[in-house]
Amino acid sequence: MCSENACRQVIIDLMNNDDLPEIMAIEKESFVSPWTPGMFIGEIEARQSQCLTAKINLSKKVIIGGYIVFWIVVDEAHLHNLAVKKEYRQQGLARHLLEVMWEISRQEGLKSQTLEVRESNAEAIRLYQKCGFVVKGRRPLYYTDTREDAIIMWADVKSRV
Ligand SMILES: CC(C)(COP(=O)(O)OP(=O)(O)OC[C@H]1O[C@@H](n2cnc3c(N)ncnc32)[C@H](O)[C@@H]1OP(=O)(O)O)[C@@H](O)C(=O)NCCC(=O)NCCS
Repeated sequence: MCSENACRQVIIDLMNNDDLPEIMAIEKESFVSPWTPGMFIGEIEARQSQCLTAKINLSKKVIIGGYIVFWIVVDEAHLHNLAVKKEYRQQGLARHLLEVMWEISRQEGLKSQTLEVRESNAEAIRLYQKCGFVVKGRRPLYYTDTREDAIIMWADVKSRV
């Protein structure tokens, strides 16, 4: 779970359309090919999609520090998006969001969680390994923008401690 100072004031909340300006700023600084606002709106409206923000309570305002989007598909959770605002990285926020995904997966009785990650994204791969994911495969040239392979990772919900 989240251990750093910033996470003491973190509130996990449902994403809504009013969050989009802040989310788009994080999205653009985080990804080569960012999602569009329309893609987030589609996720917020989709029944199978869980869209959560990590809100940081600063003394005078609440800001979005990061967010996670995942689908529940039969008995699996599929991670579709995860990003943390640059100035709040390496303070445990992403791990906190993944813990929340795991807790929802557990409560929903899901068996496993899965994700795809660019093979060059060493920080994210390390994060996922720390959260119990293991590499199970590869999709060659999955990312058309950089012609990069995707690494496929899985985690067993029940075996998680
Ligand atoms: C990847 C990302 C979500 C990590 O968010 P974060 O809040 O900084 O991650 P955390 O602080 O929770 O880190 C947890 C673990 O991840 C790993 N990690 C995170 N950032 C790292 C870095 N820059 N270098 C090495 N390891 C890193 C570490 O193992 C860390 O554990 P530790 O602190 O005990 O060493 C963030 O860097 C980001 O938004 N990147 C751009 C978007 C992205 O790549 N999303 C994932 C798409 S698949």
